[in-house]
Amino acid sequence: MMSTFKDEVLSRRTFAIISHPDAGKTTLTEKLLLFGGAIRDAGTVKGKKTGKYATSDWMEIEKQRGISVTSSVMQFEYNKAKINILDTPGHQDFSEDTYRTLTAVDSAVMIIDSAKGIEDQTLKLFKVCRMRGIPIFTFINKLDRQGKMPLELLAELEEVMGIESYPMNWPIGMGKEFLGIYDRFNNRIEQFRVDEEDRFLELNDEGEINGDHSLKQSGLYEQTLEEIMLLNEAGNEFSRDRIASGDLTPVFFGSALTNFGVQTFLESYLQFAPTPQPRESTIGEINPLTEDFSGFIFKIQANMNPAHRDRIAFLRICSGKFERGMSVNIPRLGKQVKLAQSTQFMADDRSTVNEAVSGDIIGIYDPGTYQIGDTLTSDKNGFQFERLPQFTPELFVRVTAKNVMKQKHFHKGIQQLVQEGAIQLFKTVKTDEYLLGAVGQLQFEVFEHRMKNEYNTEVLMERLGSKIARWVEGEEHYDNLSSSRSLLVKDRYEHQVFLFENEFALRWFQDKNPDVPLYNPMDQQ
Ligand code: G4P
Repeated sequence: MMSTFKDEVLSRRTFAIISHPDAGKTTLTEKLLLFGGAIRDAGTVKGKKTGKYATSDWMEIEKQRGISVTSSVMQFEYNKAKINILDTPGHQDFSEDTYRTLTAVDSAVMIIDSAKGIEDQTLKLFKVCRMRGIPIFTFINKLDRQGKMPLELLAELEEVMGIESYPMNWPIGMGKEFLGIYDRFNNRIEQFRVDEEDRFLELNDEGEINGDHSLKQSGLYEQTLEEIMLLNEAGNEFSRDRIASGDLTPVFFGSALTNFGVQTFLESYLQFAPTPQPRESTIGEINPLTEDFSGFIFKIQANMNPAHRDRIAFLRICSGKFERGMSVNIPRLGKQVKLAQSTQFMADDRSTVNEAVSGDIIGIYDPGTYQIGDTLTSDKNGFQFERLPQFTPELFVRVTAKNVMKQKHFHKGIQQLVQEGAIQLFKTVKTDEYLLGAVGQLQFEVFEHRMKNEYNTEVLMERLGSKIARWVEGEEHYDNLSSSRSLLVKDRYEHQVFLFENEFALRWFQDKNPDVPLYNPMDQQ
């Protein structure tokens, strides 16, 4: 039977994995793709450690780093669900794109290393998910190693992240004594390192093993039953609605490396993860089941082929069906474009896509037309999706043109890259110097590279290090409060922003000037 448009949309699950480097994102992604049959070998997702790179010709920096477009979006099918995984690069590759990717998903999977607990980058990405009300599914990884106690990890989720949790399963021991997981949700035990046919032990109505079993000899089994009782009595209640609103995170324990607990996780995830969600626009909410096509650009990857200066714009489809060759409006430009060259991403490949529906992510060829945040729609009246959030930069450099004769190119390049969303631009209030702000070092490198390659301008960048940026509300001017420890600058919309040397300088400033209305845009959206 032919599936209808509605069936197609409802089969989509689009998520990003958020984690700190080394928590196991690559390993888990690979296992998921293996289940979906999208790849045959582990080690295909990212060449980081295996030395394998997908063959394509993307930007040099990315080649050196082993990031590729293909690993930015991966699609696979499992039990009739069509799953889109979006990569959120980390470490030195962390950038505003990493945050912006989270605007294009309907849910997030958070991986936590059981020995390390909640780490810095996970927390940053988590905050963006919270700000947007994105449902979060937690996978606590590396149970085959000795880690923190599970109750301690749950407490960390609540205390550090402020999110309530519901453990869907619970580890029986860990490290050398890891015996498996007690699956509360499916009322069964999944045994570690036990053959497939004997791996699952169904439990009785009391949640215990019927009859004799070697597991019962272990003190760990008794201990697990006690902990489960504690969770049943004192833990949070399971609530589908609270998962959907992002207020409760279902927690799964497992070991991605040994492929343990991954399938159980995937199956439960598919049961509770949201289908494509509606998006706010200037004409109200756009329903993903609406047949008129619409979507927005959340990322532009430039210079994948230096010879052609081509770029790919990543489009999240929000309603209707994409068909290759279709014409759409870009309301920002009041212009129609034909989407002739389009790409879909598979695990280690990219191929031309002819059709895609709400929830899918496709790449479209960008001859320099698009900006991050652009709406594309087949609606003649041209609505726009809500503006993408602004992310508070943390790193700053002072930038000048190396060759003073190239000022014109320099200004043009900066202006376009800023508009495109590659980097944020500030000007010092007193001296009119240009500062660039970013959330990760990669953004500066990409900026420098693109200025040279696309605008033929070499730039000098003087590092200013990390700063705490706080915007100022209202129109009153505070030029007299600018100092080296609280530098006043203006953003590209002429809004005043103070750049503080550190937390201490910020607090000191607030104590001295309690009437200056400072705010962090990331706390407000
Ligand atoms: P990332 O993408 O989040 O950065 O993490 P990645 O999957 O690359 O995993 C980081 C390291 O953690 C890898 O080890 C990986 O093998 C290991 N790892 C991932 N999941 C598990 C798990 O469930 N149990 C254990 N014990 N280890 C796990 P590495 O030594 O850095 O790399 P490799 O040489 O093993 O590839």
